[in-house]
Amino acid sequence: MRTARLIACAALALSLPARADRLPVPADAPPAFKAECASCHLPYPPALLTAADWQQVMAKLDKHYGGSAVLDEKTRREIEDFLVRHAATRSRMAGAGDPPRLTRSEWFLHEHRKLPDRTWRDARVSSASNCSACHTRAEQGSYREREIVVPGFGKWKD
Ligand code: HEC
Ligand code: HEC
Repeated sequence: MRTARLIACAALALSLPARADRLPVPADAPPAFKAECASCHLPYPPALLTAADWQQVMAKLDKHYGGSAVLDEKTRREIEDFLVRHAATRSRMAGAGDPPRLTRSEWFLHEHRKLPDRTWRDARVSSASNCSACHTRAEQGSYREREIVVPGFGKWKD
């Protein structure tokens, strides 16, 4: 019984539901993930890109979206393994771009389709990758609707 429930939970965790508002950094994250991948931006949830995408991101750290985030091979490998372990399996979560962006996946665009175009251009947002501009508790991995405040728009009500 217990085992069955555990398996059911694991299956649920692997297939991110359509509305997922809790995306904390998984507990088995190597310390290097927060040290190296949360210094310039928040630690992006591994479940928001596919394994193939993460492999591309991690293979191109010297060309990291116009900058450089190069790591020694041992650390790079450790972080890649972690990201791949928790990666999305659904094709809707596949990113786009080179390296791929999670802010261009079909899932991301769908979740954010109701936002007026001008909000993305607001100087306080500047980039869709700046999750905490609207998700006030994104640093804690929380994306609940009642925590959303969109610059120039205010508290979000669906
Ligand atoms: C310009 C503001 C803004 C930015 C930037 C933004 N979001 Fe959102 N996000 C929203 C709004 C508003 C909604 C709710 C949309 C709706 O209700 O239709 C939302 C919804 C979500 C949801 C669904 C929550 C749920 O209830 O299921 C997740 C997850 C999410 N965003 C993650 C992110 C991540 C990760 C980033 C950064 C890579 C990001 N968002 C950037 C405004 C933003
Ligand atoms: C030196 C600063 C820096 C470091 C360190 C860094 N990044 Fe980035 N990252 C950036 C910048 C700059 C962008 C592009 C932001 C934008 O265009 O809005 C970015 C974008 C991203 C994106 C795409 C977000 C989107 O738009 O969908 C991902 C994914 C990402 N980083 C993952 C990582 C991972 C994983 C690590 C650790 C191995 C890491 N980053 C380390 C600076 C950094």
